[in-house]
Amino acid sequence: MSAKRILLVIGGGIAAYKSLELIRELGRRGIGARVILTKAGTEFVTPLSVAALSGEKVYTELFSLTDETEMGHIELSRSADLLVVCPATADLMAKAVHGHANDLASTALLATDKPVLMVPAMNVRMWQHAATQRNIAQLRADGVTVMEPDVGPMACGEFGPGRLPDVPRIVAEIEAMLRPRSKRLAGRHALVTAGPTREPLDPVRYISNHSSGKQGYAIAAALAAEGARVTLVSGPVSLRAPEGVDLVKVETARDMLKACEDALPADIFVSVAAVADWRPVKAADKKLKLKGEGKSPAIELTENPDILRTLSHKKKKRPALVIGFAAETHDLEHHAQEKLARKGCDWIVANDVSGDVMGGLENEIALITKDGIDRWPRMAKEEVSARLAQKVSEALGRDRDGLSLAKE
Ligand code: CTP
Repeated sequence: MSAKRILLVIGGGIAAYKSLELIRELGRRGIGARVILTKAGTEFVTPLSVAALSGEKVYTELFSLTDETEMGHIELSRSADLLVVCPATADLMAKAVHGHANDLASTALLATDKPVLMVPAMNVRMWQHAATQRNIAQLRADGVTVMEPDVGPMACGEFGPGRLPDVPRIVAEIEAMLRPRSKRLAGRHALVTAGPTREPLDPVRYISNHSSGKQGYAIAAALAAEGARVTLVSGPVSLRAPEGVDLVKVETARDMLKACEDALPADIFVSVAAVADWRPVKAADKKLKLKGEGKSPAIELTENPDILRTLSHKKKKRPALVIGFAAETHDLEHHAQEKLARKGCDWIVANDVSGDVMGGLENEIALITKDGIDRWPRMAKEEVSARLAQKVSEALGRDRDGLSLAKE
């Protein structure tokens, strides 16, 4: 593996001196650090000490003609494998949220195409302020990793969360983010359902729901990124098939079940689709005339097959890991636990759909397994998917000998 390098932005806070220790620790592990020191940062550490430790030129100004001829600020922002902001001050995070580009650090954050890690450190009140918390939620939604600060006595005399995490914790996070994405699901087949189903009433009307398919498509993409061969069975949505995923488009719940059964065997089944529970008993082949009879028309409904339950209970081709979703508007965990048992799946991803989750870009979920409940903070649907795919890889990797591969 070639040597890794980070671009480290040192913000202006009392914890800035710890970034020197961070540079040294990273150096010991063969991770190079090129440094941008903000103007406020220079009040706490000197460019000279940073240069001595990093063994590299330190960048401080946006409009330095010599710097621009040696390495333009755009190139600088992309010259490393990872961009780390440490300490990430309230001000730097606010700038990143709003896309400011009025100094070298904020410009690099805006121009980079690399993953970004923020390591916050600030006074406890500043950390707890609604504005900071809002900014952190937004950064996470934008795909930035924001570490939780440590809790303890602070330089300003107060006590609480806001201390820079211990350097070994920061190093561990950086190493984890630098690790190449594994292909731990290579050789595995994952089946994912996504989107709504449409249950026709007549040629122009149907019963359906607001599912956009975004979460299911993102999960299919994340499983493919982990090396799995992915079949995505999708109801009608306006999304493009993720790279490297086999897309099977369907309309009704019954079509979806058939497409899933046809796709078996699979090692993993993730049932993300918002399947309509009911369908009209009869789909008229001509447009129904619903007006003019003086009473509201009665539509007789019948229950749709439960795809998740059917695949969970397969005797022969049951996927080794079956994951369901529980979309709830209230009593989330209680209903999700009940669904886990009723559907016979191995894990349930419980998500609160009372807000703007359906169609929105973010999701807040709790992962319920036999080992207990893991509550995740609100994050982008892509981030939820990457984490879930990682959990799947870990579970299948751990049980590699126990869980037999699906036979092609
Ligand atoms: N599901 C399915 N087939 C159905 C209904 C649901 O495969 N006919 C799956 C969904 O893909 C999801 C899980 O079952 O993984 C739970 O779906 P949800 O709509 O939350 O639950 P329901 O079973 O519909 O129960 P309820 O509507 O009472 O909450």
